[in-house]
Amino acid sequence: MKRKPVIIDCDPGHDDMVAMVLAIGSEALDVKAVTCVPGNKPLNKVIKNALHVVDYIGSDCIVAGGAESALVNTTSETDISIAFHGESGLDGFEFPEKIDRKPSDKNAIEVVADILRNSKEKVTIIATGPLTNIALIIKALPNLLDKIECISLMGGTCRFLFEKPFMEYNTYTDPEASKIVFESGLPIMMYGYDVTYTALYTNDFINRVESIGNETSKMVAALMRKFMTLHNSAFLDLGGCPVHDACAVAGVIDPTVVIDVRAMNVKIDTKSDYLYGATICDYDNRLKDAKKNANVVFKLDNEKFFNMIYDSVKNLK
Ligand code: BDR
Ligand code: CA
Repeated sequence: MKRKPVIIDCDPGHDDMVAMVLAIGSEALDVKAVTCVPGNKPLNKVIKNALHVVDYIGSDCIVAGGAESALVNTTSETDISIAFHGESGLDGFEFPEKIDRKPSDKNAIEVVADILRNSKEKVTIIATGPLTNIALIIKALPNLLDKIECISLMGGTCRFLFEKPFMEYNTYTDPEASKIVFESGLPIMMYGYDVTYTALYTNDFINRVESIGNETSKMVAALMRKFMTLHNSAFLDLGGCPVHDACAVAGVIDPTVVIDVRAMNVKIDTKSDYLYGATICDYDNRLKDAKKNANVVFKLDNEKFFNMIYDSVKNLK
């Protein structure tokens, strides 16, 4: 099978880890690089976490750090992130202390530029953190944007309400970057809370993954278990736990996993206090002249989705 070239831009994070495992373990994808963005933790910590994950699962793909901070927003959401991901960003598993791998000497934006320039095919960008690096890519590399197939992002929310109206952690952490991305004209698949809170894993799934018995399965099971405890006690217990970021990978591996998606206009507010960073989605398509700039996903085939994660874990060491 011909593998689709992808770049993962992430801020690991437990669910970013699952997204990486799903992508790197998939026979359908060729992960060209993992680039890091501050979000769940500052840049140095998310780079370290990304290196731990790729090293542990036996991948040799490039890891590179991007922006040091959000474009404009200076409010830190450390409390939210500690509640969901713990102090390290990947609490719940002891990775070997020594990492043989080093991050690239190049910045994420340069790494992406090289990949786009040298790729014969279009490349899909999977974004599972705040959109800072992606906005910088859009601004810095206008001549290479036609090499981007699509931006498949975990972010935003159309109807599922969190603490603030239409607030989702990634879009909210860097509203100005989110606005640049949503206004870029690039094809966007948006996997927001509307879909991620309908694809919940349970202890049964964790046990199934653990029963694979390889090294990757031990790490994935431990971290999914910890994330469920943290998430469900800090926020909302719906009888399972979302694995947000992995959703944005699944649709790239196999688009038929997406069973409800609607094109609509999505705007990011960057002006008001109350809605700063909100995704305002024209769900009913009432804004007749507004461009349908995003495909917003509402439902996955969950059985297929969780089987994909299982298969990827099994394919790794
Ligand atoms: C997003 O926020 C982060 O905590 C997760 O990694 C995910 O990308 C969910 O809102
Ligand atoms: Ca993330």
